[in-house]
Amino acid sequence: MTSANSTTRFHREEPIDLLKEFTICESFAKESSPYAVALEEPRSYGVMVGDFLTGRGLLKEGAVVCELGGGYGSLMRGLLEKYGSLLSRVCMVDLSKGLLHRQRICLKPWLQKVFSVNADAHGIIDALNGLDLVIVNEVMGDLDTLTGLYPVSLDGEAAVVGEYGLEIPGEGPFSLNTGAIRLVEAICRRGIPAFLSEHSCDPVIPADMPWLGQGLALDSFPREIRLHHHSEYTIRFSHLEKVARAFGRKVETGALLDLIPLRKTADLRMIFTMKACGTARQEILLELLDHVREYRWMVIA
Ligand SMILES: C[S@@+](CC[C@H](N)C(=O)[O-])C[C@H]1O[C@@H](n2cnc3c(N)ncnc32)[C@H](O)[C@@H]1O
Repeated sequence: MTSANSTTRFHREEPIDLLKEFTICESFAKESSPYAVALEEPRSYGVMVGDFLTGRGLLKEGAVVCELGGGYGSLMRGLLEKYGSLLSRVCMVDLSKGLLHRQRICLKPWLQKVFSVNADAHGIIDALNGLDLVIVNEVMGDLDTLTGLYPVSLDGEAAVVGEYGLEIPGEGPFSLNTGAIRLVEAICRRGIPAFLSEHSCDPVIPADMPWLGQGLALDSFPREIRLHHHSEYTIRFSHLEKVARAFGRKVETGALLDLIPLRKTADLRMIFTMKACGTARQEILLELLDHVREYRWMVIA
């Protein structure tokens, strides 16, 4: 039977502990994070995202940037530390009042340009004006997902499959990231550039690390990830790409590792393929690689 997974009540009402979710952003929250041993040079995730965005001309002088679901504020803090003088305004949107409060503490040095909005990412894009960039980092998996779908009965919200010609499995049941699809639709309709990243079910493996694909499904459909008091779903990026292209938008996408400059030591492959972990550094690397390999980024320009 078709049902809808929603995390709205959880994010609105419960205290949220992101350390139980192992987000990539929190793994690299600061330069001093233990995961920094994996990097060419220690950098926070916010700085990495900022470097990536400036490299693509997406952080312009005087830009107004909106982050949906900013968690503890770590990504935006890194971005502002390095690129704060470029940005004129920052809008942080979150369903969780507790996290909005925490973000304001984290972003204290820049509060004169930060405004916080307690709202749902599902409907907010149409209500915001003057945005130059939207950042949605590890949030799309929390948005609404239809589950228990069958190819023969795709009506209601699931009719989006026919609307955009989205590929689906030959037989059910399968799940569909309707919340993420509608968010991309709203971003495209408004013509706003966006950076999106999430745990995917159709990952891209970096060409110089083909062994990272070992045992990984590269063309699958959204999978449930059970977390504390809620579930999120992996994202089918090919669906988001199709939607954005249907609006005539330019889309680029790849492995999240593209923007995380790993120190390519000779032992990486062995640590990963042989699970050979004799030191704390090797354990960190194995855990990180095993997790990050399923993540993708997408830029809608
Ligand atoms: C998994 S956390 C990711 C936090 C941060 N972006 C990171 O990468 O560490 C999801 C974030 O999105 C927020 N969130 C979840 N669903 C939301 C929704 N429908 N509207 C707005 N914010 C939402 C949560 O409160 C939280 O801040």
